[in-house]
Amino acid sequence: MVNFKEEIAKLIAAEVTDLEFSEIQSMIEIPQDSKMGDYAFPCFKLAKVMRKAPPLIAKNIAEKIADNPLFEKVEQVNAYVNMFISKEEFVKDVVEDVLEKGDGFGRSDIGGGKTVIVEYSSPNIAKPFHIGHIRSTVIGNSIYKIYDALGYNVIRINHLGDYGTQFGKMICAYRHWGNKEDVINEPIKTLLGYYTKFHEEAEMHPELDDEAREIFTKLEHGEPEEVELWQWFRDESLKEFSRVYKMLGIEFDSYNGESFYSDKMPRFVKELEEKGLLEESRGAHIVDLEKYGLGVALITKSDGSTLYITRDIAAAVYRKETYDFYKNIYVVASQQNLHFQQWIQILELMGYEWARDCVHVPFGLVSLEDGTMSTRAGRVVFLEDVLNRAVEQTRDIIKEKGVNTDNIDETARQVGIGAVIFNELSNNRIKDYVFSWSKVLDFNGETGPYVQYTYARCASVLRNAGEEAVKSAMEKGLAGVDAKYLTGESSYALAKLLYRLPQVVAEAGEKYEPSIVTRHIVDIAQSFNRFYHDEHILVDDAEERAAKLALVISAKTAIKNGLALLGMETPERM
Ligand code: ARG
Repeated sequence: MVNFKEEIAKLIAAEVTDLEFSEIQSMIEIPQDSKMGDYAFPCFKLAKVMRKAPPLIAKNIAEKIADNPLFEKVEQVNAYVNMFISKEEFVKDVVEDVLEKGDGFGRSDIGGGKTVIVEYSSPNIAKPFHIGHIRSTVIGNSIYKIYDALGYNVIRINHLGDYGTQFGKMICAYRHWGNKEDVINEPIKTLLGYYTKFHEEAEMHPELDDEAREIFTKLEHGEPEEVELWQWFRDESLKEFSRVYKMLGIEFDSYNGESFYSDKMPRFVKELEEKGLLEESRGAHIVDLEKYGLGVALITKSDGSTLYITRDIAAAVYRKETYDFYKNIYVVASQQNLHFQQWIQILELMGYEWARDCVHVPFGLVSLEDGTMSTRAGRVVFLEDVLNRAVEQTRDIIKEKGVNTDNIDETARQVGIGAVIFNELSNNRIKDYVFSWSKVLDFNGETGPYVQYTYARCASVLRNAGEEAVKSAMEKGLAGVDAKYLTGESSYALAKLLYRLPQVVAEAGEKYEPSIVTRHIVDIAQSFNRFYHDEHILVDDAEERAAKLALVISAKTAIKNGLALLGMETPERM
């Protein structure tokens, strides 16, 4: 695809010798209002070096470049050169490019195969996988897909919270009041029940706390009986998590969680000591980060046991040594900001020059319409239930609307799950948001169902056109579509949005912000619907029909590829 900005910069550089090419390129703007052109070049900066009034400079440049076939028209307005790209050239180029690349449209090789780790989801074993977990899970999955599309080699890690004193309590409770069948039937609810019961009982019988502590110590020392129970709890919990991952179409390359690092910590405690970073404080060991405004980090407790932060230090070094990452990305709630600032600072103080390649990507809270969530109050809303409900409600809506589909279960699944994912990725991740059913499943709003419906509409146009016509549109499109039929306002607007998709993906990657992609797909869908409304697509004239169908295929491709980056599927009928 022609890089118009670069081409324009070349033309301007031939007229303006006082500025570097890269500077000229960075000065080129895309005006908010398309009446000011597709691209604009402001001349204020040139006034000093050229010793002329900016409008005069703009006028000279405009006159010089106006005849280039790239442009339909070039105007000088005040200090600006406003450039209108030749619509035919532009649309032709875009459509050809999309048809040629197909599933690869939107992808690039910016990453050059460098290894990036994306850590996401990372729930705690034996605890409910609730609606709050949707955030890290879905945002992380999309960041993985975006980095993959940018040509990075991505390693997906689920840093399970599968270690800590609570397992001593759980094993203790299981031994006193547990039942094997219950754990197998409903692992997480049952294990959580044990945990709650333990706390109730321990209030009256504090000796239980000692017992639990002893059990955890045995677990830490690898006593077979304790390890076996812990392993079993972990396996059963993972089975339950895996059901949700499967529903969301999410996978991981590694489930190395906190327990994986349990035997790798002495090395770091020693290293911190040798580097003079460790201080003793009432039997415990700390790193004082007050100087950096980051408080004090507790590395080992007075009984010698290590903590969450110690395991993160070990994990980062392990990942560097194992994968030699270019970037190590953590998709974790903003409540843990301080935690991440602390351990990244500690790594830096330890002299690891790659410390700042560890990136915390935080996000805000999700709450439910009918009140916030609290694990304690037993108001837990399981993510699995939310997803099932989304599918069921979607099935009802599809039935009610009399939507034409040959497999209602499959369509309801794709749309229901897609709706929840899309909703999750619609806003800037850092914003808190309220989960609202009416918003999630609104087929007319800026939602998943709306975009998927638009995709199905593209598919339906192509079905109505017939296989022959689509084949011919592909062939003609690849050979150079006759773009004079695609210069209407809505066709051109659509082509402009398609053109920007690869840039949008790159920007989303740079900012770790999938919502940039989400918003752009909404724009494309809306723009396609305008085109569909404005233009008669299946006209008699074969050339015109082929050109318009080529644009439909392009829009369909872009929506499909865009939604795939969010982790969404695309039903052909809806
Ligand atoms: N298990 C933690 C939790 O549920 C999240 C883990 C985040 N990742 C990390 N490397 N600290 O809060």
